[in-house]
Amino acid sequence: MKPTYYITTPIYYPSDKLHIGHSYTTVVCDTLARYKRMRGFDVFYLTGTDEHGQKIEQKAKEAGLSPKEYIDKIVGSIKELWELMDIRYDRFIRTTDDYHVEAIQRIFKALYDKGEIYKGTYTGHYCKPCESFWTDSQLKNGKCPDCGREVERAGEEAYFFRLSKYTRRILDLYEQNPEFLQPKARVNEMINNFLKPGLEDLCVSRTSFSWGVPVDFDPGHVVYVWVDALSNYITALGYENDRFDDFNRYWPADLHMMAKEIIRFHSIIWPALLMALELPLPKQVYGHGWLLFGGDKMSKSKGNVVDPVVLCNRYGVDAVRYYLLREVPFGQDGNFSNEALIGRINSDLANDLGNLVSRSVAMAGRYFPEGLEPGKEKAPLDDGLVAMAEALKATVEREVEALQLPAALTEIFKFISRTNKYIDETAPWALAKDEASRARLCGVIYNLLECIRISAVLLTPFLPHTAPVILLQIGAGGDEGLASWESAGKFGLLPGGVKVNKGETLFPRIDLEKELGELEALGAPVKEAEAAKKSAPQNEPVPGTVSLIEIGDFARIELRVAQVTACEPVPKADKLLRLTLNDGTDTPRQVVSGIAGFYSPADLIGKKLIAVANLKPAKLRGVESNGMILAADSGDGARVIFVDGDIPCGSKIR
Ligand code: MSP
Repeated sequence: MKPTYYITTPIYYPSDKLHIGHSYTTVVCDTLARYKRMRGFDVFYLTGTDEHGQKIEQKAKEAGLSPKEYIDKIVGSIKELWELMDIRYDRFIRTTDDYHVEAIQRIFKALYDKGEIYKGTYTGHYCKPCESFWTDSQLKNGKCPDCGREVERAGEEAYFFRLSKYTRRILDLYEQNPEFLQPKARVNEMINNFLKPGLEDLCVSRTSFSWGVPVDFDPGHVVYVWVDALSNYITALGYENDRFDDFNRYWPADLHMMAKEIIRFHSIIWPALLMALELPLPKQVYGHGWLLFGGDKMSKSKGNVVDPVVLCNRYGVDAVRYYLLREVPFGQDGNFSNEALIGRINSDLANDLGNLVSRSVAMAGRYFPEGLEPGKEKAPLDDGLVAMAEALKATVEREVEALQLPAALTEIFKFISRTNKYIDETAPWALAKDEASRARLCGVIYNLLECIRISAVLLTPFLPHTAPVILLQIGAGGDEGLASWESAGKFGLLPGGVKVNKGETLFPRIDLEKELGELEALGAPVKEAEAAKKSAPQNEPVPGTVSLIEIGDFARIELRVAQVTACEPVPKADKLLRLTLNDGTDTPRQVVSGIAGFYSPADLIGKKLIAVANLKPAKLRGVESNGMILAADSGDGARVIFVDGDIPCGSKIR
């Protein structure tokens, strides 16, 4: 029996068109799934859509549609996008699918019967005209983010999951199973920001909106967010439903892949829910970084979303996949830029890979139109190349298994460059001039084709369109033995008399300036500086207030460069960090800042930032704060303004 491999993406909110950042997770998972399939695993790759909630209910209302009508269209376009991007998932779950709804009701009831869920009161900010509850962070200037009116503190009856009782068990999980949550830095984030301060019970039902899975034993309640969304990973396999029967085969998941902002839900709430259900835990949760544009997270309101459909149609799916997989250091944030994408296409794909294939195929066709001739001669120059070719498979496997996809590609492209160099070293055009060198010429061309074959096989999970085309061009098309993963570890498998097939250019070169101009004309965000300008807060005058200030007003604010010397979470305050700053004076300055949701202490210690030094002291959750630090509101979070490490502490900012 084949070993199994179960991999998932998060399920996507169908509230908007997906952008290239969303596609990132899906492309990464698709590559891993393809790799595992090639290595003989019984792979199950799950993706889908997260279709319930107040936001969708509201958007549908605005569009004059029922929620289901509204999302059906968007889900259709999401599926089309995955088809365009060659995403080979095994199942697509929609949380509105009957079998999922039924399973969620059973899961909710089972948790309630076990005493893991209890009834209580949810309190929040309520906007009467909108009939909506909002959390602190959702409010805009303390008012309803939808209509801008006053909100009031109010409560509603709700069910709660006893998350708090799992604090110790989750800490033990991280300690006993260091592979569970990766990359490692995320573990500290979870421990310092959420587990050390102690978990709070989680609200898992609501009555103030109705677009959700109904709690069947208490009419008026709908299941709220995470029980519904996270359970997709098991309901899609048939857990608590009769639609599928794959649970025993694939659960526990090998890998839940996602971006960092939802790590908390997957590495705290999800294992706790599974513990409550007495089910095995997933083997790994991985939180990769964000794809940014102009240094900012993509969002429609900032006007910096990059459309994957435009990119795939202009450059081909494999070029876009290559860029995503190669350019972003895995696990960290990476910036998308059109210049970098086009640069990668021109240098790696057109120049290195494309040229290697076209030069080699052209020479093979020109010098051996009837196919290579047996009796090829070897020379010492070949040994190093062959050794490198045969070692490559193991190196790529090591990097992919460690989820270091950029490193795996780097290794393959190092080998491609080495092979290009081999052409210059052996100068086949010179050998072709001398009939006595024919056997050597044949040997050189054979080696080139074999190196290309090995590269193409190893590139197959990354470039699923291009790799088979390359194999076809070098005369290895349609032969499974020459395209299998195992075959990449063995040099010399191509038949001696192989005949090439000249084909189209794999990746045409792109004229950067012309291309940027065309993208701009299409309305795509092109220049980072412009994106940054668009995302900067506009100087909108607030009615009844003076919007312009005098220079003297600004001069009253004392801004100084300061270095973070210590930092820790404020107990029982999810959002707060206590920072100790060296502001150039002899007395350390203590500042409390609401950035715990976005930074861990390790992210800040040693960094230099800007402190407001003459702010009146205040107490936040009982902790004294002397000043504040400057951060940019990035729409969905706060980003601290760091300054150059060379600027001395205490320098005044004017
Ligand atoms: N519905 C939730 C997930 C529930 S999983 C049980 C959700 N949906 S989402 O549509 O907002 O985002 C889905 C995923 O898209 C994110 O977790 C992340 O993996 C990916 N990304 C969205 N924007 C991204 C970037 N700019 N960069 C990289 N990935 C990002 O969260």
